[in-house]
Amino acid sequence: MDRIAHTPAGLADVLCDECELKYSIESAAREVFKKYGYRMIQTPMFEYYDMYDVTSPIHAEDMFKFFDADGRMLALRPDITTSVARIAGAKNIGEDLPLRLFYCGSAFRNEENFSQARQREFTQVGVELIGDASPEADAEIIEITIDTLSKSGLKRFQVDIGQVEFFKGLTEQAGLDSFTENTIRRYIDDKDFVSLENELKKCDIDDYLKDMFLELPKMFGEIDIVRKALADDKLNPRSKAALDNLMQVYQILSERGLENFVSIDLSMVPNLNYYTGIIIKGFTHGVGFPVCAGGRYDNLIANFGRDLPATGVAIGVERVMASLSAEESENEIEKDSPQYVTVALAKGRLAELSVDIFEKIGCDVTQLREKSRKLIFTDDENKLKFILVKASDVPTYVEYGAADIGIVGKDTILESGKNVYEVLDLGFGKCKMAVAGYPEMKDNLDGTNLLRVASKYPHIARDYFHRQKGQTVDIIKLNGSVELGPIVGLSDVIVDIVESGKTLKENGLEVLEDICDLSARLIVNRVSMKLHREKITALIGKIKEEI
Ligand code: PRP
Repeated sequence: MDRIAHTPAGLADVLCDECELKYSIESAAREVFKKYGYRMIQTPMFEYYDMYDVTSPIHAEDMFKFFDADGRMLALRPDITTSVARIAGAKNIGEDLPLRLFYCGSAFRNEENFSQARQREFTQVGVELIGDASPEADAEIIEITIDTLSKSGLKRFQVDIGQVEFFKGLTEQAGLDSFTENTIRRYIDDKDFVSLENELKKCDIDDYLKDMFLELPKMFGEIDIVRKALADDKLNPRSKAALDNLMQVYQILSERGLENFVSIDLSMVPNLNYYTGIIIKGFTHGVGFPVCAGGRYDNLIANFGRDLPATGVAIGVERVMASLSAEESENEIEKDSPQYVTVALAKGRLAELSVDIFEKIGCDVTQLREKSRKLIFTDDENKLKFILVKASDVPTYVEYGAADIGIVGKDTILESGKNVYEVLDLGFGKCKMAVAGYPEMKDNLDGTNLLRVASKYPHIARDYFHRQKGQTVDIIKLNGSVELGPIVGLSDVIVDIVESGKTLKENGLEVLEDICDLSARLIVNRVSMKLHREKITALIGKIKEEI
């Protein structure tokens, strides 16, 4: 029998040159951490699952779990911070405060899509400063982050700072229930302006707060954003205190000459149960994910015994490696086409209309209109590079940063589940996602019988039936001509796009339930939005004027 010669998916051997590079990054980080007085600790590769169940922002399904001989559930550590918090909470490390600890080791997450920057096993180097609630402590963590990224060889990176209490203050002022708060939080964090606006329409809150929530996704950039927000006398004390704190941290960093590395982002509002103050994320060119993430988590350690404030950061070593090689190849590309913004356009039904938009804002689209097999076109005057890709691939190109922006249907964005900013509803390609079938099925949608649902959109179908309706269904994935499902008896109903309704009508089917409205959207890579901010916001502005 042939032996398996490859690793399980999402794991990788790290050989020779790569291994040396990895080791040099880890060593550089260690040196920096020690310089700031941090001491190294090691924690076990796996822990009792219960520990994460209560405290971790990481979803249960993203952890690798197994049982020990006593039947207790264990989990491969999805991060190292939680273990450090356990140690600090249980006084295993002594009582002298503050504690300055650092770690370097593997963590594990059950990721679905793999790349060098996103593996199931990845290495984190990080610091935790425990027992100090001052702005100096947060500034120290940010300073260490900048120092570590620089010493690891990165030249172009940016550390974004936010403050989650600003958002919490606004939701407190608005009196939002936790469900709505979380929905709005998600839309703001994703810069999903369209869904945010729709959700806010449903909320019974005053116009001032509605406008504040709508403004939030745009509140990133220079420190002036914070100064301007501080001048608003309608803010409640909680939001104001958050801004004061952010200002203090920024001032400390400026005094240390680090202001050019940092940028403000008040719209970073990740898991609010975990983070309690300043949050930070580091971004580089060419890698679609943050290279590091951290912030203040004052409530975590209390779960383990001692109520101690804490702040820290974890840097992804593989992500730094990917950024270093992206910087290298970017330097090469930039020699030919400096500072081009790459736009991914979907082939197919949205293609013509997408090209029209760029023509209207004054781009040279002659090459794009020519019927050739070419897939990449440039507009040298406007410094734009267009790539033509399959619609379902647009979110992938944009998520990974291979394209900075893209135009694609909302259906494709929903189905892909990709992590991109959705900044504009372009208003064309309007249609809806619906459940359709023979008219007599209308009375059979209540969940009494197990429905068989055929769809090109299994994620949307599952989300609608399972999450929104609480109904278990059997989903059959098809790649096209889905209407055939009920006709040949493969399924009871379909979940599909309905535009004119002609296809349904000609096949004797009809819409049974509406799921959501769809149209073409402008999406932006999370890192590009920060690193090419001026160019991209100018482009968005021009497109907005046209539509
Ligand atoms: C889409 C969709 C429906 C049809 C709806 O299919 O899946 O079949 O268009 O449009 P209508 O309401 O205007 O009739 P598409 O043309 O993309 O082809 P496919 O079914 O082969 O995927």
